Amino acid sequence: MAKEFKRYLVTSALPYANGPVHIGHLAGVYIPSDIYVRYMRLKGRDVISICGSDEHGVPITIKARKEGVTPQQIVDRYHNIIKNSFEGLGISFDIYSRTTSPTHAKTASDFFRKLYDEGKFIEKSSMQYYDEEAKTFLADRYIVGTCPRCGYDRAYGDQCEKCGSTLSPDELIEPHSAVSGSVPVKRETKHWYLPLDKYESTLRKWILDDHKEWRSNVYGQCKSWLDGGLQPRAVSRDLDWGIPVPVEGAEGKVLYVWFDAPIGYISATKDLTPDWEKYWKDGETKLVHFIGKDNIVFHCIVFPSMLMAHGGYILPDNVPANEFLNLEGDKISTSRNWAIWLHEYLEEMPGKEDVLRYVLCANAPETKDNDFTWKDYQARNNNELVAILGNFVNRALVLTKKYYDGVVPECGELTDYDRETLAELSTIKASIENNIENYRFREALKDAMNFARIGNKYLADTEAWKLIKTDPERVKTILYIALQITANLSVVIEPFMPFTAGKILNMLDMPKFDWERIGSVDLIPAGHKIGEPSLLFEKIEDDVIQRQLDKLEAVKRANAAAEAAQNIEPQKASLSFDEFGKADIRVSTILAAERVPKTKKLLKLSIDTGIDKREIVSGIAEYYSPEDLVGRQVLVLVNLEPREIKGIESRGMILMAADASGKLVLLQPEQQIVSGAVVG
Ligand code: 2FM
Ligand code: ZN
Repeated sequence: MAKEFKRYLVTSALPYANGPVHIGHLAGVYIPSDIYVRYMRLKGRDVISICGSDEHGVPITIKARKEGVTPQQIVDRYHNIIKNSFEGLGISFDIYSRTTSPTHAKTASDFFRKLYDEGKFIEKSSMQYYDEEAKTFLADRYIVGTCPRCGYDRAYGDQCEKCGSTLSPDELIEPHSAVSGSVPVKRETKHWYLPLDKYESTLRKWILDDHKEWRSNVYGQCKSWLDGGLQPRAVSRDLDWGIPVPVEGAEGKVLYVWFDAPIGYISATKDLTPDWEKYWKDGETKLVHFIGKDNIVFHCIVFPSMLMAHGGYILPDNVPANEFLNLEGDKISTSRNWAIWLHEYLEEMPGKEDVLRYVLCANAPETKDNDFTWKDYQARNNNELVAILGNFVNRALVLTKKYYDGVVPECGELTDYDRETLAELSTIKASIENNIENYRFREALKDAMNFARIGNKYLADTEAWKLIKTDPERVKTILYIALQITANLSVVIEPFMPFTAGKILNMLDMPKFDWERIGSVDLIPAGHKIGEPSLLFEKIEDDVIQRQLDKLEAVKRANAAAEAAQNIEPQKASLSFDEFGKADIRVSTILAAERVPKTKKLLKLSIDTGIDKREIVSGIAEYYSPEDLVGRQVLVLVNLEPREIKGIESRGMILMAADASGKLVLLQPEQQIVSGAVVG
């Protein structure tokens, strides 16, 4: 069993306020953290759940520039959308703060200043990229170029989104400014660096020796950073959006977003309670950071080094980072709009908050990347939530209504089977606890659903609807037990599906039960009158799913069009009328077509040009089969000098359009017209 702490401080990665939250964020961070804290509260533990918007950093200023608004307008917009949508999904933070708050500015600034005053930083001047046109240094995402690892030509100065490598601006091939597009020059600038190397041996012992229980993905990433040797890391940037570096002579410089953001956990706690220090500074507090895998180094190495440099703070006991969730087989991407946005889901699927919570937990990428598909969402709703959970609760309540007018019957003598059934509940309780305390939420959810499975099996095996005629006394006990299982169910599913737990309690007309009462057979007293039963979940039909799939299909089409538009060839040098007039283009009809042997791309076409009949070799075999072509009218440049291709004299060129991917389409007259008609 996990060690009991005096109190629990749970943080969830602060989402960037440059866009709404999507299902990847939810499955990776917020659903698991919410399950954890809801469970802790039910256990009666002293727990606080901290989150807020991460409102500094270059992605926000880039977005503001693109839209022609201020960064403050951007963060105000998304902070509100994110905060409301978290509430809508029942994510129960004790505080959802923001890093543009005055408390945060002071906390982060004081933190930096203390380290500065105590000489914990290295001050260093170096040559960095500068955009002479926009008159600005190009930090992080302001510089774009080709990734040295995978060749992606739109990698950022801090990261390649294609291969996931962490980069520095100097590594980019052919760098250019994301602000003006110009080629940057190097200029000298001064920054402050935190010498991570000084904390390396303490970190090694703390993580590699003392936290072998951390998830293997987290432990492995830390080990590889530590084995690679830590370097001093810059904690300031030349930018005009952020918390000013609180040092004389640092005009135009702000704290690096990854320096200020994790301090946001501390400032949010300050905003929540004047007692904040006991959560951050007492060794009897257990600190847990819920994050996605791209945040591991910052939470396991950089932030702990900052905390050690400062002194007086506890370090995290665990950092259960999840892998990534994909959507319909493709990586979720904010910039490509390939996502299910939480605020849209809540609007389009009202009343289905718990369905999403359930599916994202059941499919959580705990040990490897996972895929969300709408078909799986539908199947899990229909086959699990409706058929198992909803079905059991409904049967228990409807039968009570029918036989006893909703009054909980007396419990008679228990049979061995009754006792075995009830004992199973206590065994599962221990398993759920063990799974949640060890951050295995998928397994814990399976355990919780087993309460409903047990309930269904109990009702099916005992056949109350048959016995009611022959042994009505026994039926009283059966329904009494079924109702106790239902009440138990309301507790175990609460961390995962709080809305459904609330609905069950409502239908039972009972107040919330404590976690420790799970397994009890006297949660609802005999003689208590339950409320009106209604269905917990409804079947989701194909058309609802199809609408969501169509929406994603439209995103794909829009992305393909945008991609094609980006790759349009530049216009060629201008051409005189005389020069153009030399090209003789005629409408022609294809009479016959066959593949050129031993080639993949070539077709031999017999053409009626109106002037004569001739042969042309054309490279369209990958896009058209010979039988598709016979009888078609096409446009042919007839006075191109003949060329021999694979031993065939090709006389002319069939006109085609090609996109950047090399895809070819034939051009044909809008109406049938005589072969030989002149094009021009
Ligand atoms: O990756 C992100 O979305 C970051 N905004 C997470 C910050 S977590 C923390 F340190 F504040
Ligand atoms: Zn790359």
